[in-house]
Amino acid sequence: MSDRGNFGTRLGIILATAGSAVGLGNVWRFPFIAGHNGGAVFILIYIGCILLLGIPGMVSEFIVGRHSQANAARAYGHIAGGRRLWRAVGYLGILTASIILGFYAVVAGWCLQYLVASLLGNVQGDADYVTHYFQSFSTNPWKPTLWAVAFVVITHMVVARGVQKGIERAAKLLMPLLFVLLVIIVIASCSLPGAMAGVEFLLRPDFSKVSHSVLLEALGQAFFSLSLGTACLCTFASYFSRDTNLLRSAGQIALLDTLIAIMAGLMIFPAAFSVGVQPDSGPSLIFITLPNVFQQAFGQMPLVGYVIGVLFYALLVFAALTSTISMHEIGTAFFTEEFHLPRKKGAWIVTTVCSLLAVLCSLSIGNSDEISLFGLPLMYFCDFLTAQIMLPAGAFLTSLFVGWFVDQRLLYDEFTNQGTVSLAFFRAYQFSVRFVVPLCIGLIFLHQFGII
Ligand code: TRP
Repeated sequence: MSDRGNFGTRLGIILATAGSAVGLGNVWRFPFIAGHNGGAVFILIYIGCILLLGIPGMVSEFIVGRHSQANAARAYGHIAGGRRLWRAVGYLGILTASIILGFYAVVAGWCLQYLVASLLGNVQGDADYVTHYFQSFSTNPWKPTLWAVAFVVITHMVVARGVQKGIERAAKLLMPLLFVLLVIIVIASCSLPGAMAGVEFLLRPDFSKVSHSVLLEALGQAFFSLSLGTACLCTFASYFSRDTNLLRSAGQIALLDTLIAIMAGLMIFPAAFSVGVQPDSGPSLIFITLPNVFQQAFGQMPLVGYVIGVLFYALLVFAALTSTISMHEIGTAFFTEEFHLPRKKGAWIVTTVCSLLAVLCSLSIGNSDEISLFGLPLMYFCDFLTAQIMLPAGAFLTSLFVGWFVDQRLLYDEFTNQGTVSLAFFRAYQFSVRFVVPLCIGLIFLHQFGII
């Protein structure tokens, strides 16, 4: 392996991959998309997408990456036996990941700002104050923009050094801590007056609330949350060892990721119902409800509320960072290897492009109505374009690719680690990437665009 960045231990690699999966997608995006789509029904469809399409999709990317041991574009080209057309799937992935980094950095920047503000005690107040605080902050012309750029630059500093022991060690410590803290906040949130309505919203399906776009939104969210469809997993798998069990790793990461998303739901909705914030209030949902939890649930013990608030935003920033690192790494690995650049230079290209995009995204919801595409502020347009179009398209193409174009003997060898994993699993996987995944994604697309 070259200087593409090395992980020291096998646990580190799995943790880094899990770190890529667990992020704002779970804690920020999942609750507001679920809230927008009626709660429980959405979650059922979401879990279906993870099991039926997500896990096979993850395994496919793992196979391409581990077999090729190269950046995304080269990996697809290599495993296609030199048919250059397939490199395009790698390029698509690199482009998608860079766009995601652009708007993701904006929300990550909000988290950073909330970390600082909660340290200074500035987000403490009643529900009206907290709502007003978010609105005046997010529409401020320059503050959120600076935080977003700062976040890209922090990501840059980690990636340029190589994804090394620091991150690995930090991940081993901080991921479990995030988990423990989530449990505490879930309990606090559920103990607020009137919280049970939120639990019910999450767990009791109400089919009348389902909108026609729910399928594609669930699919997009599932892929976004698993980091699937951009060759991100493929890039990480290029660092896997020969005896990593790909199916088991995919299953473990998907389970952890889904668990954290559902816990985030249990953290947000009970509190939202308790303080009267609408569950479909969109991207601001967590920024408005959580300060209320910290304030109200720990009203008798303000210091505890303060500490939990600060810790929470610190861990959220960390979870976002392990995700932005993975997005950044895709482009950096590509530029470094394909153009024979020093790693630092490769990383700078990605940082420059993504910072520019982050500035535009941030301004588009801040104070400029002009930065919009198809009637959506650039920020939400990028979110829609990537999660609901580019990620499913990437997964669709990867699935066709491994199912129909890659030498099936190679697929078998990679999937089973040279025959050490059961043949039955391989058959099921093969069936799924050949038929189930492309058909389901294809049908969901056709449905969404009104063709069926
Ligand atoms: N999965 C991450 C999250 O849930 C986001 C993410 C990281 C991502 N890397 C990605 C999404 C690559 C798509 C592609 O926050």
